[in-house]
Amino acid sequence: MSTEADMVDLVIANGILVTPDGMAPGAVAIDGGRILAIGTDDAMPQARRVIDAGGHHVIPGAIDVHVHFREPGFSHKETWASATAAAAIGGVTTVLDMPNTNPPTATAQAVTQKIALASSQALIDFGVYGYLGEDNIADLAPMARAGASAFKLYLGSDNPLVPCPNDGAVLDAMAEIAKLGLRLTVHAENTGILRWREARLRAAGRDDLEAHLEQHADIATVEAVSRIALFSEWTGCKVHIAHESCRHSLPLIADAKRRGVDLTAETCPHYLLLSTDDAERVGGNALRVKPPVRGAGHAGPLFDALSSGLIDMISTDHAPYLPDEKRQASIWRTAPGFPGVETSMRLMLTQVAQGRIGLPDYVRMACEAPARAFGLYPRKGSLLPGTDADIVLIDMAATSTIKAAELHSIGNVTPFEGMATTGAAVMTLVRGHVVMDAGRIVGEPGWGRPLAGRG
Ligand code: DOR
Ligand code: ZN
Repeated sequence: MSTEADMVDLVIANGILVTPDGMAPGAVAIDGGRILAIGTDDAMPQARRVIDAGGHHVIPGAIDVHVHFREPGFSHKETWASATAAAAIGGVTTVLDMPNTNPPTATAQAVTQKIALASSQALIDFGVYGYLGEDNIADLAPMARAGASAFKLYLGSDNPLVPCPNDGAVLDAMAEIAKLGLRLTVHAENTGILRWREARLRAAGRDDLEAHLEQHADIATVEAVSRIALFSEWTGCKVHIAHESCRHSLPLIADAKRRGVDLTAETCPHYLLLSTDDAERVGGNALRVKPPVRGAGHAGPLFDALSSGLIDMISTDHAPYLPDEKRQASIWRTAPGFPGVETSMRLMLTQVAQGRIGLPDYVRMACEAPARAFGLYPRKGSLLPGTDADIVLIDMAATSTIKAAELHSIGNVTPFEGMATTGAAVMTLVRGHVVMDAGRIVGEPGWGRPLAGRG
C-alpha cells in the first residue's frame, strides 16, 4: 500500500508513447511538473490522479520557433491570451515570439516588457526574440541578459519597425551573437531585389498576386540563404533559416551542413501543402505571405527535405490579420501572413494518416529538432525523466474540417479553410498541468512561463 506521501501527482496510463525513435505502449508518471518515469502501465507508481489515455498517442508538446503573437502594439490582430489558447488547442506547448511588435523587441527594456506582458496572459511556455538592427548592436548582449532566447534578422524587410540592416552591421552583429552563443533566425530574402522589383512592378501598374511572386523571385531567397551561410561560417554565429519556401535553396542548405556550418532550417505547412494553384480557392490576394507560397514544383521537394531531416523542423510563421487587412483588391495593400499554431499539428497529422511521414518523424520535426536547435533539449521536446511534463495526447482517428470561425486567433483568415483533417491533439499539458482538454481551454492565463532563466 502506498501512503499519500509516496504518491505522485499524475499518471497518464494506457497510451502509446511516441519518440523520434519509435512507438510503444506505455505510461508517464509526473510529479512537480516534471516527468518522473516512463514505462509500462504496471510499472507506474500510485498517483493522486490518473488520466486514461484510452490508447491514444502520447507525444512531447510541439515547439513552434516562429510565431508573431502581436503584443505589444497590435492587440486588434491577436493577444497573448488568444494566441496561446489557439496554440494549446493545436498541441503547441512552447513558442518563440518574433520581435516585429510595437515597440519592436530591440532593447533589454523591450525584452523585459514583452516577457512581463506575455507572462500575465500566456497558457503555454514562451521565449522572445531580440531584433538585430543597424542601431542596436550594443543592445544584443543586454537583450540576452534580459532573457531573449534567440535573435531575428530581417533580410528583405520593408517594415519600418524592423528594417533590414546593411551587410557590414550584420557581420559585426553576427560576430557578437557568436560570443553570446544564441542562434540567429534569418528571414532570408535580398532587400535590393525586392525593392527594385516592387518599384518596377508598381510603375507598370501591376497589383495582382502574380506581381507579389515576381517581386519575391526565387533568386531573392537563394542569394540570401547563400550569403547567410557564408556569414555564419565566417563568424561562427549559429543561424536558422526561417520559413524555407523554395526548392532551389535546398542544395545550398545541404552544402552548408556538409561544410559543418551550424545552420538549421524550418518550413511551414503553407509551403508544404499549398501552391499558387490554390489562390482562387483561398480568395486570391489572401494567399499573400512573405516569402510567397510559390508555384506547384516547390512543395514536393520541400516535403522530401523535411522528411529526410535536411530541413530540420516545422514551424508556422503564425501571423494573424483581420479579414479587412487580408481582403484587399490591391496585392500591395494586402497584409502578408495568416495564423498557424492551431492548425499545424492537424495538417501534419493528416500527412501521417496518409502515410507520407510516420508519427515518430513528426515528433522529430515538431518537438525534438526545435528544442535541440534553440538550446531547450531535453527540458523541452522530449519524454525523458527529469524534463518538463509538456505532453500532448493525440487521437489519430479524429476527423474534422478547418473553419476560420472556429479558430481562437483574433485574426482568423486561413488559407486552409475547408480542408479536411485526420488526427488532432485532444489534451495538452504544460509542466504537468492540463491546459486543454477535448478542445476546451481549462488552463489559466498566466500559467505559461518564460524560458529564460530557468534550469
Ligand atoms: O508574411 C509575413 N508576415 N512575413 C513576415 O516576415 C512577417 C509576417 C508578419 O509579421 O505579418
Ligand atoms: Zn515571421
